[in-house]
Amino acid sequence: MNTGNLSIKILFVCLGNICRSPAAEEIARVKLNQMLEGQSLFIDSAGIINFHEGKSADARMIHHARERGYHLKSVSRPVQIDDFEQFDFILAMDNRNFLDLIELCPREEYRAKIMKLCSFISSDSDFSKYSEVPDPYYGGSEGFELVIDILESSMSGLGQFIQKKGLS
Ligand code: 4NP
Repeated sequence: MNTGNLSIKILFVCLGNICRSPAAEEIARVKLNQMLEGQSLFIDSAGIINFHEGKSADARMIHHARERGYHLKSVSRPVQIDDFEQFDFILAMDNRNFLDLIELCPREEYRAKIMKLCSFISSDSDFSKYSEVPDPYYGGSEGFELVIDILESSMSGLGQFIQKKGLS
């Protein structure tokens, strides 16, 4: 994968890479490119499992995201060992994804790259009670709307964190 040497590289990870992380990827592309103007960003997403490999995002996620102006273009792929070296920030959607990533991580020095996206939600946000992005796959429309709400509310904290880290 050619991720570009000078980019800040951010990977969003959920279980299947068809609902939460594809939405996170596109919301980040819009919000972080606004916040970190002038920085070159490489933003991608992946899944813990390979069950949906090669597939576009779930039609329900595509629909709800499009209603809010986000056009999902992801193609599902599983996390690869190489991702831990390639990416600067690896953001898990829930506790299970986080623990799976820690287990897959090939080197101690890469562990600090792995974080939970919800840890960046500001304490004064309406969504501050969420410590995970809940899996919407087996539920209804409200679940997909909630995913987008939580993702949107985490992006400004993530952008500030990346800015502070001062990568260029
Ligand atoms: P995601 O949602 O992890 O947000 O992409 C899911 C997609 C597929 C499955 C579970 C969650 N699945 O069991 O196939």
